[in-house]
Amino acid sequence: MATRAPLCQAARRLEGKVAVITGGASGIGESTARLFSKHGAKVIIADISNDLGKSVCKDLGPETASFVHCDVSSESDIENAIATAVDKHGKLDIMVNNAAIGDPTKLNILENDKADFERVIGVNLTGVFLGSKHAAQAMIPLRRGSIINVGSVSSSVGGVASHAYASSKHAVVGLTRNVAAELGRYGIRVNCLSPYFIRTQLTKEMFKFDENPEFRVYSNLDGATLQQEDVAEAALFLGSDESKYISGHNLAVDGGFTTINPAFGLFARA
Ligand SMILES: NC(=O)c1ccc[n+]([C@@H]2O[C@H](COP(=O)([O-])OP(=O)(O)OC[C@H]3O[C@@H](n4cnc5c(N)ncnc54)[C@H](O)[C@@H]3O)[C@@H](O)[C@H]2O)c1
Repeated sequence: MATRAPLCQAARRLEGKVAVITGGASGIGESTARLFSKHGAKVIIADISNDLGKSVCKDLGPETASFVHCDVSSESDIENAIATAVDKHGKLDIMVNNAAIGDPTKLNILENDKADFERVIGVNLTGVFLGSKHAAQAMIPLRRGSIINVGSVSSSVGGVASHAYASSKHAVVGLTRNVAAELGRYGIRVNCLSPYFIRTQLTKEMFKFDENPEFRVYSNLDGATLQQEDVAEAALFLGSDESKYISGHNLAVDGGFTTINPAFGLFARA
């Protein structure tokens, strides 16, 4: 992971803000926690992975970061994570609903199990619903806040991941738009952030790239490889006041993958 130099006070874009980040113990969530804290935010990492989460918090320092054990599919766990932020820091400014899982890759729908489908929906969609609901409860009295839901390229195109994962991620965009419609009257912004492929624990299990030396990832954008820190930068933008008039948006961080058809047309690639 790239280490970055400390910032001067004026460049700290989240100074005084308080953020809860689900799934903040590793991958994109961890990078987001690190970047948010570098920009002056107090962060609560809410995750099921106790050891990793505590280790990230230790690294960031007890003044800045706290760990809460939280399974996002459990309403009481989510309530507890938000209550921890409010008890410790007096408020909640930013909620990052980032935690998600995949399911066993079974290419035939006839082999897909209802239990696997429902487990993915329970974390990836119900978790975002619960995170949004309880973040809203803390944010409404303050009449401000930013809720950031992590979607995926599987939020807008089919064929990239499993049926359960694609369904959950499409639904996260719908939920984002609906909650943005409701909470705008309280000055609360709700957006979605949809990354392309990054090598993390989740995608390692999903795509088994470690077992396949031939594994390649298509990119429309030559010369750049998406990293979890790039997604954290987009979350920083959505969490900061620089995005103060952006709500109901699905921000793709995908180099054009979901908006460009490389298979046909003037710029088709071989
Ligand atoms: N990596 C990618 O290529 C990619 C692409 C598009 C979208 N995303 C999305 O980015 C987000 C982060 O994924 P990542 O790739 O960093 O994965 P990751 O596996 O590195 O991190 C996911 C984190 O969520 C936690 N988690 C899992 N289930 C949980 C639960 N029930 N409650 C609380 N925490 C739980 C894990 O312990 C882990 O710390 C997810 O929403 C994922 O769908 C990832």
